Amino acid sequence: MDALLSLFPPGSDVAGDGMLRVAGCRADALAEEFGTPVMVVAEDALRARAREYRDGLAARWPQSRVVFASKAFPCTAVQRVMVEEGLGLDVAGGGEIVTALAAGADPALLVLHGNAKSDEEIAMAAEHGIGLVVVDNSDDVDRLEATGSSHDVLVRVIPGVEADTHASVLTGHAGSKFGLAPAAAAELIARIEHSPRLRMRGLHVHVGSQILDVEPFARSVAPVAALGEFPVYDLGGGLGARYSYDDEPPSVDEYLDALVGAAREHLPAEAELIVEPGRSMVASAAATLYRVVTLKRGEVTFVAVDGGMGDNLEVALFGQRFEAAVADRLDPARGETVTLVGRHCESGDVLVDGVRLDTPRVGDLVAVPATGAYCHTMANNYNGNRRIPVAFAAGGEARLVVRRETWDDLLARDVD
Ligand SMILES: Cc1ncc(COP(=O)(O)O)c(C=O)c1O
Repeated sequence: MDALLSLFPPGSDVAGDGMLRVAGCRADALAEEFGTPVMVVAEDALRARAREYRDGLAARWPQSRVVFASKAFPCTAVQRVMVEEGLGLDVAGGGEIVTALAAGADPALLVLHGNAKSDEEIAMAAEHGIGLVVVDNSDDVDRLEATGSSHDVLVRVIPGVEADTHASVLTGHAGSKFGLAPAAAAELIARIEHSPRLRMRGLHVHVGSQILDVEPFARSVAPVAALGEFPVYDLGGGLGARYSYDDEPPSVDEYLDALVGAAREHLPAEAELIVEPGRSMVASAAATLYRVVTLKRGEVTFVAVDGGMGDNLEVALFGQRFEAAVADRLDPARGETVTLVGRHCESGDVLVDGVRLDTPRVGDLVAVPATGAYCHTMANNYNGNRRIPVAFAAGGEARLVVRRETWDDLLARDVD
């Protein structure tokens, strides 16, 4: 049971009657108040992680900045927490700029990404004075120059590092659609250095996501350093999160030791270092609560809940392994092995393939831990799904920060 609890947000525990509590809030009370499915974020855990990154980097490299990769949980309330904790925000596109500004972010602390930034997004960067624009291609440079304003830019470099992760979230390998190979990057840097509008501030690199080994991060620094000395180096995000019992992601300290160690070896001591964690910042701070709708016993026992790939696409897209438990019977040792499935019209709509649940029944609450990263991001309206709410929990109190979509929301964009 402790092993299972350790996958839930830090501070989670079990009430006297066996009910899961997240940040002091009982799962049944959360379900009663907000309905199901609902994503519950333990606010203190979120803040603690932000501080761990912030203080860990500052201790190792004082001239530094942590920017939260908003794409991992693009929600104003989460971005606001990061801003309050003194972090910058990585924004990939106009929508994340809009929510970042609504969250109170200082535009000077935003870092704009995208391999296909539109005219509109570049215009937003100019209008709001976004601090750094990460140039991915020469068309970015054309568009930035065409705004008529000045911009501080980084150039995204492909380091040629292949990490051991799912192919869909690998980005630093030769042939990646993101950034430029070193020779092409050098050409673009030379062009930017002669631009009347753009200030060449530095380089950016990002190896990929859900990386469970520090070595690829360290290896990505030398190829960037080989392109010359600049005031800023943004070394990306990518540290893996813990989803299941066997996952052993490096700690933030281990990650920073390796990354900053490589920076000390290869980068100028006076440069500013930026890191952009997303997944490892938010994954473990949240859990999703579902209600069991039906059980089907046969060759496989299917336990079907009232959510699925409409609120968690990580399983269908990347085969990510999650765990699950009945919220008031958490002991996996007492369980039977079932397949936890969603309500969507695809056989791939599986939340956990083969998980032990203790005597699951219709109406039970089922809790899935570690849903904080990219689940809210990729929530969708498949089968007319109403995207699920997000509640923040702290000290036994919970509050809604994103409401559930309504049937009217589903009709709201119809014009005829
Ligand atoms: C440029 C960039 N920075 C940071 C991140 C965050 O990565 P992760 O969520 O794996 O930390 C991503 C996501 O892939 C990214 O594309």
